[in-house]
Amino acid sequence: MSFDTTAANRKAGRFEDRDELWLFGYGSLIYKAGFDYIERQPATITGWQRRFWQGSHDHRGTPDVPGRVATLVEAPGAICIGMAYRITPAVFGHLDHREKNGYLRFATEMRFADGRRDEGLVYIATADNEAWLGDASIDAIAGQIAVSHGPSGPNRDYLLNLAEALRALDADDAHVFAIEARLREIEAEHGR
Ligand code: SIN
Repeated sequence: MSFDTTAANRKAGRFEDRDELWLFGYGSLIYKAGFDYIERQPATITGWQRRFWQGSHDHRGTPDVPGRVATLVEAPGAICIGMAYRITPAVFGHLDHREKNGYLRFATEMRFADGRRDEGLVYIATADNEAWLGDASIDAIAGQIAVSHGPSGPNRDYLLNLAEALRALDADDAHVFAIEARLREIEAEHGR
């Protein structure tokens, strides 16, 4: 089964008419760029919260043992902090490939520390994509992350890198920090 959203993103062509635009990252895009950008700075978006509800069959897991990675789900009034990158459409090829396991390009308004607002792009995996895993207990999510590995490395590294990056941004993300705490307990229980 293919979860590949690359063709859908190319077909929709969202933001490809721009010379430059802002990309909002809230998961691995916070701590690992891996593409050229003009500048970056922390930003927030409103009405969305980070959740480890998306399956990773290509980066942090496999089709048989999928990992769990972050997506955004709607939450009226919630503020999600992340990292904004000013990019050109030249990096869409890289981004579409990297986010191909269910993520689509959406428009969002982001707000910067100085109060400035701008419209930009965010990759979101919605509940109707084939790699969607959805809600589960913190224990179940942490347990799945503890055992999943993929071509980009252990699923645990994705979670721990994200938690560290969120702390550096002074983010108060109870969901991510609760999974991190449970993962550490699971690893301690298994002498890791
Ligand atoms: C993002 O970081 O903005 C998207 C999800 C991911 O690549 O982890």
